[in-house]
Amino acid sequence: WVVDLLNRLNSTFVVDGRWQWFVSGLGYTLLISLFSVLLGLVIGILMALMRLSKSKILRAVSGIYIDIIRGTPTMVQLLIIYFVIFANVHIDKWVVGFIAFGINSGAYIAEIVRGGILSVNIGQTEAGRSLGMTHKQTMASIVMPQAMKNILPALGNEFVVLIKETAVIGMIANIDLVGAARKVQSLTYDYLIPLLSIAVIYYVVIKIISTLLSKVEKGMRKADKR
Ligand code: ARG
Repeated sequence: WVVDLLNRLNSTFVVDGRWQWFVSGLGYTLLISLFSVLLGLVIGILMALMRLSKSKILRAVSGIYIDIIRGTPTMVQLLIIYFVIFANVHIDKWVVGFIAFGINSGAYIAEIVRGGILSVNIGQTEAGRSLGMTHKQTMASIVMPQAMKNILPALGNEFVVLIKETAVIGMIANIDLVGAARKVQSLTYDYLIPLLSIAVIYYVVIKIISTLLSKVEKGMRKADKR
């Protein structure tokens, strides 16, 4: 069976340089996840500020956005964006992917940011206002910096969630890590080795990233203890 295993590993990774498919697949997985979390952060900050604003309309718009996005599957959102919204537009599939995952992530990040803003002590706002700052200035230079620092760990977690969640891009394209496994499968009819391989790759990458994130988090907590 050792020979059999070596043969299967050979046809999964070595023949025709197929290992390159896995490298590029991992590249796309990480690229889409990174762009998604950045887009999600922009949308999330905007939605959180709208959610906390005095305007009823702004509050309602962001409330509906968060509700609909969190109440429907990522997969359905991706399919709608690809087959309906971008149906007649020529655009790279990974871009469609990060737009869809970014819009999805934005709803979750909005709640994270809102929590972060509310976690900043009200005294901070009062201090800013009593120094003569406007509400906007207080938010921008006192509250938001502290809020963003508080939500960094949750954002790192969201990035890890996205690394796994972006596998859904397989519905529209075979470009990510799962796509690499599927390409090999379709040629070799071997399911076990490619799938087990990408499971290991996902696991190792996520382990590395979450270890780094918890180190950063610990460092930040230490820096806070003066
Ligand atoms: N997989 C679930 C869904 O399809 C959860 C998505 C979570 N997404 C996130 N960016 N936190 O709705």
